[in-house]
Amino acid sequence: MKNLLVVYFSRTGFTRIVARQLARACHADLEAIDDLQGRSHATGYAQSAFEALCHQRPLIDRATHTPQDYALVAVGTPIWMWNMASPVRSYLLRHRGQFQRVAFFCTYGGSGSRKVLNDMQTLSGQQAVDTLALRDDDITARHFHEPLLRFSHAIERASREPVSTGMGPVHPAAGEDAHAIKL
Ligand SMILES: Cc1cc2nc3c(=O)[nH]c(=O)nc-3n(C[C@H](O)[C@H](O)[C@H](O)COP(=O)(O)O)c2cc1C
Repeated sequence: MKNLLVVYFSRTGFTRIVARQLARACHADLEAIDDLQGRSHATGYAQSAFEALCHQRPLIDRATHTPQDYALVAVGTPIWMWNMASPVRSYLLRHRGQFQRVAFFCTYGGSGSRKVLNDMQTLSGQQAVDTLALRDDDITARHFHEPLLRFSHAIERASREPVSTGMGPVHPAAGEDAHAIKL
């Protein structure tokens, strides 16, 4: 069994920065969710907002890494309209029941992280071993090294522990900005 896989979707690059640094920090394989829609066009923002609000599941490409092969999969999303990005919803639903353990992270402008991290646990059907929420301002200012390292250590540690058969109920994330910098 391989150890760690970091999976993410990113439209404008923030989640990509975090995902790449996380994968480097914990020597994980990295997978970008390939959204077949294309969202960079003029109506991309509105379309993304609508899909997120309506909990739509857009078509995504087949994953190149198999989640079952990994002791832990960390999934990252931008927040769209207080929801996970719609391609991440597609990914979690497609692979629900295939994860050994999960951890979730999100990037956002300023609100909705607690709800989204909880939603990801509910949708995946699994309690996260840890969560991380990072604001765009902190990512731009490169002020996220410490929380990223804490998160990285937590998931590395969890990936080495034996898997218990029952994952237990899904509990809410600890706080709005679990492991995030408080401004
Ligand atoms: C359609 C849309 C809706 C958004 N809604 C929220 C929101 O509800 N709360 C928030 O804090 N940020 C919101 N944002 C900002 C993004 O979450 C933030 O910029 C994120 O870091 C973008 O990640 P990315 O660059 O990886 O795509 C929204 C962005 C988009 C495009």
